[in-house]
Amino acid sequence: MLKIGILGFGTVGKGVYDRFHRTRETIERQLGESFKIEAILVKDRQKDRASLEEGFVTTDWEEFKNHHSYDIVFEAIGGIEPAYSYTNHFLTQGTPVISANKKLIASRGEELDACAQAGGTFYGYEAAVAGAIPIINALRATLSTTSIDRVRGILNGTTNYMLTEMIQKERSFADVLLEAQQLGYAESDPTDDIESYDAWYKLIILSRLCFGKWADTEQITRYGVSEIENWHVEVANELGCQVKLIGDAKLEDGEVRGIVSPAFVAGDELLASINGVVNAVVLYGEDIDQLSFAGPGAGGAATANSMVEDFILHSRYDGDRVVAEEQHEAKEESSYSMVFV
Ligand code: NAP
Ligand code: HSE
Repeated sequence: MLKIGILGFGTVGKGVYDRFHRTRETIERQLGESFKIEAILVKDRQKDRASLEEGFVTTDWEEFKNHHSYDIVFEAIGGIEPAYSYTNHFLTQGTPVISANKKLIASRGEELDACAQAGGTFYGYEAAVAGAIPIINALRATLSTTSIDRVRGILNGTTNYMLTEMIQKERSFADVLLEAQQLGYAESDPTDDIESYDAWYKLIILSRLCFGKWADTEQITRYGVSEIENWHVEVANELGCQVKLIGDAKLEDGEVRGIVSPAFVAGDELLASINGVVNAVVLYGEDIDQLSFAGPGAGGAATANSMVEDFILHSRYDGDRVVAEEQHEAKEESSYSMVFV
């Protein structure tokens, strides 16, 4: 019986809990093992959690950590601290952690990846980028030898939802933002969405997986949707374009360079047709030309889906993407042990 710990019980933590209960049989069949929710760590002791059927709920980290044991932990607290210390604690002792926390991964992912490697365990973060789109594990596993020189996409569901509602239905900024918050799409501080920090974190994580190295964050510029003015939308309409918040990164002279910014997107491009709380990621490379992914970008169910898929993958996962430079060196140095004819 696998014992599960859940850090945080907001939109995402509750989404994971609900998904476990809704599809327990399927998950257990895939795992080949049964599981139970051992404990749930939250912050506010006043909130009513009486209806929870499973898991000991506590606001005390010492109790969560010392009085229970876990085979795997789900992190859905958000922010850097205490999420970093909690994640570090479990990875260091070899307990796998599955996270939706893009801010933490973009900021401290290099250390946490190293920590997971040293602890011989899995640090999964499919849910941290582009909601339900399986882009992280595609890059880590099924595209692990694919050369990628550019990644571009719509990486924030809240602002794409807001732009769609504001431009197509002429609703107000404040009204649509409030709705996105009520629907659980927005970050606890929606400035992260509006000023593009959230999409910036996601572009940093994608760059690491596409190009095999962590970006110098100063090389990734950021502008928020607050920069958009009415005349931008009018000009876009006249040109047959859409205004979208686009993240775009490339490898140039061995360095990652990128930008997150509102941009005009030509009407016949895939990204122009991405509306609502939807994200899209397009990978560019010599052999793949353009590889596109699109799907729900935020919300409890979409995010939980990615976390549960990480849960299934964690027992099968056996290594990260080979970095681009290593690939080139390996090709030059290789004495072939297998030849395809
Ligand atoms: P949320 O609704 O604000 O929930 C946060 C949860 O963490 C709450 O249960 C809160 O406890 C708990 N928490 C906060 N600080 C804590 C602390 N110091 N100790 C213990 N518990 C603490 O946030 P969310 O939307 O679920 O997002 C969680 C994470 O998932 C974030 O990293 C976010 O960026 C990421 N994410 C969110 C979405 C989405 O669509 N919402 C999608 C992908 C990724 P209380 O319940 O007691 O307040
Ligand atoms: N606030 C984020 C968004 C949640 O709207 O995209 C999903 O990462």
